[in-house]
This record gives sequence, structure tokens and C-alpha cells, in this order.
Amino acid sequence: MASLPLLVDCDPGIDDAIALSYLAAHPGTEIAGIISTGGNVEVAAVHRNNLVLAEQLGLEAPIARGAERPLVQEPIFADDTHGPGGLGHAVLPAPAGTGDPRNGAQLWVDLARARPGELVGLVLGPHTNLALALEIEPELPRLLRRLHFMGGAINHRGNTGPTSEWNIAVDPEAAQRVLAAFTGAPQRPVMGSLEATETVRFTQDTLDRFTELAEATGHPIAQILVDALRFYFEFHEADGFGWMAHVHDPLVAAHAVTEDFASIRPLTVDVELAGTLTRGQTVGDELGRWGRAPNLDVLTDVRPEEFIEHLLETLHAGLGRPGGA
Ligand code: RIB
Ligand code: CA
Repeated sequence: MASLPLLVDCDPGIDDAIALSYLAAHPGTEIAGIISTGGNVEVAAVHRNNLVLAEQLGLEAPIARGAERPLVQEPIFADDTHGPGGLGHAVLPAPAGTGDPRNGAQLWVDLARARPGELVGLVLGPHTNLALALEIEPELPRLLRRLHFMGGAINHRGNTGPTSEWNIAVDPEAAQRVLAAFTGAPQRPVMGSLEATETVRFTQDTLDRFTELAEATGHPIAQILVDALRFYFEFHEADGFGWMAHVHDPLVAAHAVTEDFASIRPLTVDVELAGTLTRGQTVGDELGRWGRAPNLDVLTDVRPEEFIEHLLETLHAGLGRPGGA
């Protein structure tokens, strides 16, 4: 199986950690680089989490710390959702290393320039560092093979503001610049927005299966994910959703790798920056009123049960093999 090389820009974050574990466990992927973007927690904690997760998963990719804050917006964090350290109740060892000396934006640019047309960009957090990378290298949309990102909500309530999704709400200017820069890219970016990712609902049964994963494989990352997920369930229960968890990032990662578990539909999307009530909303022009060609492919018709089975199968196979992931 040819390896799909990915650049992963993320803000672990509990669902980011599951997505990274999945990508490390999948036999057909190469994680070519990781960018730590401030989001769920501040960038120092995100970077620490990426370093530890990568060490636990045996990843040797360069890991670069991103910008200290969003382009314009004052920083906001989601300690209530992901815990003060970003991985819920998980207790992590201190990272052995400090990561790549470059900043996140420079790592985007250097790796894309070194492997033109090869790398798939996967953004699972705010777009801050990708926007900064585009300032360094405007050709990035043509240097990358394709961009996939988890973010936004199309004709669906937000999870941050009434109409805004977290990754976009943290840095709306960055998201708007990324969408503008990737308009006309060789392949439209794939957007995994809330109306798609919220169909992936972890239940107690899913949590039990992650516990079984930890017992069956004995892999330390599996116990980290169990302890992290417990916090995620507690947050969702406190937020009125009951004992469950919406797990966003892994679906987008799995679709980037397999192009399975969901369909895509072209849509013209832009980001509201000036709305007093709607700042950070991703607006989809379903009827073509703007007269602009579609700039994104949006995930639709998700098959969540099939995806969850694939996720657990991949983790069992990848974490269970000797020296696995
Ligand atoms: O809105 C969900 C997204 O925001 C996910 O990527 C989650 O990790 C947080 O970053
Ligand atoms: Ca994330």
C-alpha cells in the first residue's frame, strides 16, 4: 500500500489525539510533519501534547510550535472541553524533546517546497499557522497535493457561538485567508464541518471498546485516550448532550486517508468577519447568489457506524502489532 504523506496541523485536544493515533496506526500513511496550533489549549500545552503523543506513537516527524496567538482575535481556549492540559484526565510523561527549531508556518512551507505536489495538508485546529505559512509562500495551495480540514458549520448551529464552530471561531481571519488562498487550487479543499462530524457520537459502548483496546494492546497511548475520553464525556454531559461525545477530528483524518465513510459536495463558502452576532460563521452559498464557483468540497452523507468500526479496527491492528505505532 503506497503511503500517503500528511502534514498534520492540530491543537490536541482529545479528538486530535485520537486522530493522530489513528494516522500513526494506519498502515498507509506517513506523518511527514506536525504543527502545534494554539486552540483547545494554549500553544505551549498543545506543543507539549504533540511531542508526548508523537513519542508514545513512535513518530519521528518534525514537530513545530506555532504562533502564540490568532492573527487578530484575542485568544480563547476550551479548558472546559479538553481539560486544562488539553487531554482530559490523561496523565502524561514530560516530553523528552522540544521539537523542531522552526516555527509552524516555516515547517509548512519547507516541507511543502521539499515535496511539491506530494503532501496532503490536514488541519484539525485553527488556521492561524497555515495562514501565516501562506504569507511566506503564496504558492502553498499548488505545492500541496490537497488540503482537508475540520471546521465550520453549514446551515447548522455552532458549538462555540450560536453560528460558529470552534476552529473557525478561534481565528476567523486566518480561516477566511486560507479559503481565499485555496480558491482555485488544483483540488478543492475538503471541509469536515459540524453537521458532518457531529454524526460521529461516541457512547459508553465506544468508551468500553477503547478500554478493551488498552487491555488488548497494552499500548500506553490507548490508556491515554481512555482517560482523555472520560473527561470529554463529562463535558458533553455537563453541556446537556448526555453521556456521550461528539468526536470530530478522526472522521476528517480518516476521510483524508481513505476517501471513505462520507461523500463530498462542492459548495461556495466564506467566513463572516464583521457580524456582531455571527462573526466566525462559515456561510455556504447553496443557491449561487454570489456568482462565485464552489471553493470547497464539504463532507456529507456520513456513515458514522462504519467509520467507528474502521477507527477501532485500525487502532487495534496498528497499536497491537509488535512495536506498533
Ligand atoms: O469544533 C470541534 C473542533 O474544535 C475539533 O477540532 C476540536 O478538537 C476543537 O479543535
Ligand atoms: Ca482539534
